[in-house]
Amino acid sequence: MPAEQVVVTGALGYTGRYITRRLLARGAQVTTLVAHPDRPNPFGSRLRIAPFDFDRPDALRSTLAGATTLYNTYWVRFARGGTTFEQAVANTRRLIQAAEAAGVRRLVHISVSNASAAPHLPYFRGKAELEDAVRRSKLSYAIVRPTLIFGLGDILINNIAWLLRRFPLFAVPGDGRYRLQPIAAEDVAAIAVEAGDTAANVELDAAGPDTFTFDELVWLIAGAVSSRARLVHMPPALALAAASLIGLSVGDVMLTRDEVAGLMADTLVSAEPPRGQGRLGDWLRANAETLGREYASELRRHFPT
Ligand SMILES: NC(=O)c1ccc[n+]([C@@H]2O[C@H](COP(=O)([O-])OP(=O)(O)OC[C@H]3O[C@@H](n4cnc5c(N)ncnc54)[C@H](OP(=O)(O)O)[C@@H]3O)[C@@H](O)[C@H]2O)c1
Repeated sequence: MPAEQVVVTGALGYTGRYITRRLLARGAQVTTLVAHPDRPNPFGSRLRIAPFDFDRPDALRSTLAGATTLYNTYWVRFARGGTTFEQAVANTRRLIQAAEAAGVRRLVHISVSNASAAPHLPYFRGKAELEDAVRRSKLSYAIVRPTLIFGLGDILINNIAWLLRRFPLFAVPGDGRYRLQPIAAEDVAAIAVEAGDTAANVELDAAGPDTFTFDELVWLIAGAVSSRARLVHMPPALALAAASLIGLSVGDVMLTRDEVAGLMADTLVSAEPPRGQGRLGDWLRANAETLGREYASELRRHFPT
């Protein structure tokens, strides 16, 4: 039987890399669409790499031709320069249209938990718009909504560890009681790949077994990296100002106002029974030696000059 052909967006990035590893392990032929094709490729010749080509629908369609399933992880964390959420929504619509035109059967679309719960935040508004676009498409679909994803290549947890290793104080926006329910990247990949194998239209959260308050999350990371930093609660604007200063020193946008608002609105938890099994505490213990040693820069990763 010929190998299944699939397309994954972002196989050289974070979540798409985990999905790709899983698909390759079961013998699929994987093509990836990426923003930066020159990134190191951990999969060698087993992975075919193509640029996003959002402005060239024919090229996009021809890259997608022959694929049974498209696993889409493409999205942007914040707007900057010429990159806007509106553009990311339009790009994703083009991707969906190209998949329809290419005869792709199934779309596994990675969204975010509670996508519709924060329409005042462009990240979530765009995600909700795209969930609607997926529902209206001609493709059979699975919408997978992760909470906070932990694994190698993550930014948020790594950079909390980085801060905890370097500073005696850790600035917590607000009361630190808002909640997160992290899920392992391997679990997101397993859920996404399994969702690709069925035909029914489904929408499901991808959340892990443990829910933490933000304070508890920071304490857990502090314990793993043997940090004795003290948590200091402060108005979100002040915590953001501290993050901007540190961001300036490392040439990054460490955290945005919208991200803090999203966190504080409890968007990264799920009301569904957890589907992920990996525990953040176990993962932190296993990766304590390397976690947070290097700062992970969003700008270096996604906005290179
Ligand atoms: N990370 C989390 O904790 C988390 C939580 C909930 C939901 N999600 C969702 O899960 C999906 C994957 O997230 P991820 O963190 O794993 O993302 P990622 O791998 O860093 O990026 C996914 C794809 O989007 C592209 N991309 C990201 N920012 C871009 C920018 N500014 N300009 C152009 N292209 C850009 C990446 O480009 P390259 O090809 O150059 O890598 C990659 O192809 C996203 O839809 C995200 O909203 C993530």
